[in-house]
Amino acid sequence: MPIVTEPFRIKVVEPIARTTRAQRERLLREHGYNLFALPASTVTFDLLTDSGTSAMSAAQWGAMMIADESYAGSRSFERFEAAVRDLTGFRHVLPTHQGRAAERILCQIAVRPGALVPSNGHFDTTRANIEYAGGEALDLPVPEATHPEVEVPFKGNIDLERLARVVQDARDRIPFGMLTLTNNTGGGQPVSLANVRAAAGILHAAGIPLILDACRFAENAYLVKLRETGQAERTPAEIAREIFRLADGCTLSAKKDGLSNMGGFLALNDDGWAARGRHLLILTEGFPTYGGCAARDLEAVTVGLSEVLEEAYLEYRLATVRWVTRGLERAGIPTVKPSGGHAVFVDAKALLPHIPPARFPGLALACELYLAGGIRSCEIGSVMFGKVGEDGGFREAPLELVRLAIPRRVYTQSHMEQVVEVCGEVAARAKDLPGYRMVERPPFLPHFTARFTPEVEVPAGP
Ligand code: F0G
Repeated sequence: MPIVTEPFRIKVVEPIARTTRAQRERLLREHGYNLFALPASTVTFDLLTDSGTSAMSAAQWGAMMIADESYAGSRSFERFEAAVRDLTGFRHVLPTHQGRAAERILCQIAVRPGALVPSNGHFDTTRANIEYAGGEALDLPVPEATHPEVEVPFKGNIDLERLARVVQDARDRIPFGMLTLTNNTGGGQPVSLANVRAAAGILHAAGIPLILDACRFAENAYLVKLRETGQAERTPAEIAREIFRLADGCTLSAKKDGLSNMGGFLALNDDGWAARGRHLLILTEGFPTYGGCAARDLEAVTVGLSEVLEEAYLEYRLATVRWVTRGLERAGIPTVKPSGGHAVFVDAKALLPHIPPARFPGLALACELYLAGGIRSCEIGSVMFGKVGEDGGFREAPLELVRLAIPRRVYTQSHMEQVVEVCGEVAARAKDLPGYRMVERPPFLPHFTARFTPEVEVPAGP
């Protein structure tokens, strides 16, 4: 496969950890076999998330130095607001400290008890904010989305027929519809321009606004360019701008495609919603011209939003994800197909058929990737979504995945080669990996703090 040349050279570096397998065995045992509990200083390749982990450019750091930290009316906000308006076309721009703060404000404005919010796939913070406001978060992915091996270009699409039916049956309960670009929970899969247009058409015909969760809007736009008929000649910026203009507002975590370590915004066209949103913003985030951010964060996002749409960057970004996916497949590791935007998702159920969901195949793989090569990944399976029913029985998650999320502009091709090599070495002895028991189950969000123990002693690798 061709080498993916990074379209940048490196000006600032930081060391990464080098540990021995014996040290990693001790660390994992001490931390209850939960990778979230590990000190980052013991991780060699940190693929836990692509959120807030980007390397910033010299232009971003430079812009941060000229930030105007005035409490009200700062010049940095003017630049930020102009950039967001230019990209999205939305009239009102409310800065927030990250994506979920924008979601909370949106839900407080618009979601009432009994409300229903359909989406291609809500991210868990969005779902939690809708539910906290008393609403129901309804996922309507296309049927292919739940089959990791099925290779179709736009597995992030919303099921239009089901959306039309829900709108017809429950029109009065729906304050807005959502589309998550790309669909993170479904494997980082893109939504096509045609699907956004059709979903907007269905919602608008019933007088319902469409709000985008646009965290990864640039990766989605580039996948549209690569995969959608008639889009190949357009720039990612043109595609992104058209997609935003089909909607009525968005929430955006700038920790992803804002190429920043912090920041986000809620952008809206509706004057009434925006006015109420600004009041809520003042209550918990800050004055409307800084939201939850320092002005230097706003400057970093302003520059990031334009850098992320550069074609050379997106070509390299998507090629990296594709390159890792193909490398894993060549090593016989089943992944969610086709490769998506920000991460490679390994199908741990298919790789470790001898470990039942109640013994957490995703966790088993994630632990072994750390033991074998210091890789930190994230289980998205029965640890995260499994439930113990009232009868004491275990309800497994629909998929057992391990996400290798790739931070933006952080790791080089040789780092990725090393990751692929470690994965291949682990896959070669997949049948020997043990399952795990959860020995401490916290009442909420177990993946962050649960503790585990292996069913048999973890066999030493080579
Ligand atoms: N929407 C999507 C699709 C996300 O992936 C995330 C965060 C959020 C909203 C919330 O944004 O973290 O800035 O409050 N995803 C991270 C991840 C945490 O690892 O996928 P936030």
